[in-house]
Amino acid sequence: MNGRWGAIVVAAGRGERFGRPKQLLPVAGRPLVAWSLHTFAAMAEIAEIVVATEAAWLDAMRAVLDALGTAIPATVVVGGATRQASAANALRALSASCDHVLVHDGARPLVRADDVRSAMRAVRAGCGAVLAARAVDTIKLVEPSTMRVLETLDRQRLWAAQTPQLATVDDLRRAHAAARSSGFEATDDVALLERVGIDVVVVPATSENFKVTHPEDLMRAETLLRERHALEATP
Ligand code: CTP
Ligand code: MG
Repeated sequence: MNGRWGAIVVAAGRGERFGRPKQLLPVAGRPLVAWSLHTFAAMAEIAEIVVATEAAWLDAMRAVLDALGTAIPATVVVGGATRQASAANALRALSASCDHVLVHDGARPLVRADDVRSAMRAVRAGCGAVLAARAVDTIKLVEPSTMRVLETLDRQRLWAAQTPQLATVDDLRRAHAAARSSGFEATDDVALLERVGIDVVVVPATSENFKVTHPEDLMRAETLLRERHALEATP
């Protein structure tokens, strides 16, 4: 596998659509954010973990990392007002020993290590990668003031971006620096890579890697995590 990977997990934010902060809520016996951290901590490719969270949750997040029982160096930093600012803070904290980095939403507990490895293989200098699932709905481009449909997009070519999003550390730092200096804000990291001309490839992933966004998503995550756990425990 190429390089030494740092795993950034963004886990700040207020959970406005969920109705309250969600990152530390118990789901299938663990805090939501702990599930993806466990997946990354078990991957030999990953040399370091950095979590970005709200200032008020620093101790709670350190306790989550302690409970992983991993020998991988793991640190917690304070996030920012946006997901992008949280990722940038964590990226600053990543040690010089990592030359590749993935950024993952702490609110996606069902990420699969094999999908992450497929994406890792696609990354090199000048090329990042993102896990994504084929769009399931037909997507309309809409004029917001009138709600008139401007265009129906070709679903065959549409992919819903998930995380992790992966790149070399140099490429992602350059993309974040360019976004910061021009005040550009995006809801994911690869948009920042695209903006500075770095290629990004989509790597198909399970649609189970959804983000817990609304309250009903938590029940679905709970069911899937319990099922997966039961399967893994079966001899
Ligand atoms: N996130 C973050 N820092 C922020 C905002 C979000 O680290 N300032 C993280 C969240 O913890 C989550 C991921 O980015 O893992 C995706 O964010 P989202 O689902 O939008 O979480 P919230 O911002 O908390 O929710 P909402 O947008 O509904 O308020
Ligand atoms: Mg948000």
